[in-house]
Amino acid sequence: MSLNTIAINQCMDKFDGHHSVWLFGYGSLIFKADFPFIERRPASICGWTRRFWQGSHDHRGTEAAPGRVATLVQEDGAHTAGMAYLVTPEVFAHLDHREKNGYLRLAIDIDFGKGEVVEGLVYIASHDNAAFLGEASELDIARQIASASGPSGPNRDYLIDLAHALRELGKDDPHVFAIERYLNKF
Ligand code: BEZ
Repeated sequence: MSLNTIAINQCMDKFDGHHSVWLFGYGSLIFKADFPFIERRPASICGWTRRFWQGSHDHRGTEAAPGRVATLVQEDGAHTAGMAYLVTPEVFAHLDHREKNGYLRLAIDIDFGKGEVVEGLVYIASHDNAAFLGEASELDIARQIASASGPSGPNRDYLIDLAHALRELGKDDPHVFAIERYLNKF
C-alpha cells in the first residue's frame, strides 16, 4: 500500500527561510535519530495522544502482513512525551522520504517545560491515509506486532525500544506499556 506523501510534504512552506527548526519525535525518532541534529531535548505536546494505529508496509511489516507503528491522535487534555531535535531543513527531505507511507508534516507547539514553548514540526499519519489501520484492542495490536517484520526489522523491536526509551525519559504511556506487557507473553 503506497500513498506517497513526499510531494505534499515538500509543499509545506511554513518554515521556509529558517536555518533550523525544532522537530518533535514521539515514535522511532525517540530511540533512532538517523539524521544529524544540532541539539536534542525531552519535550511534550498537548492535545495529542500516541497510538499504534498506523500500518507499516515498508518498514516494520510487508504488504501481505503489515506491522503497526505509532501515530498521534487528537484527544482533549492529552499530553504526549517525546524528544525534540533542532535540525536544519535538509533533514526534512530525508524524513519525508523515510516516512512517505502516510505521514504529513504539521506545525505544532513543542513544550520544553517551565513555560518554554516553541513552534516546530511533527509528522502525523491521520485517519484518512491509506495505510491507517485504526483502533484495536491492545491485545490484538500486540498480536499483530508480534508476527510482523519488515526491512527495518521486527515490529516487536520498535515497540520494545520505544517502551525502553520512554522509561529512560521517566515517562508513562499506558497504551505503549500495555502493548509491551502483552507482547512479552507471545
Ligand atoms: C516520530 O517518531 O516522531 C515519527 C514517527 C513517524 C514518522 C516520523 C516521525
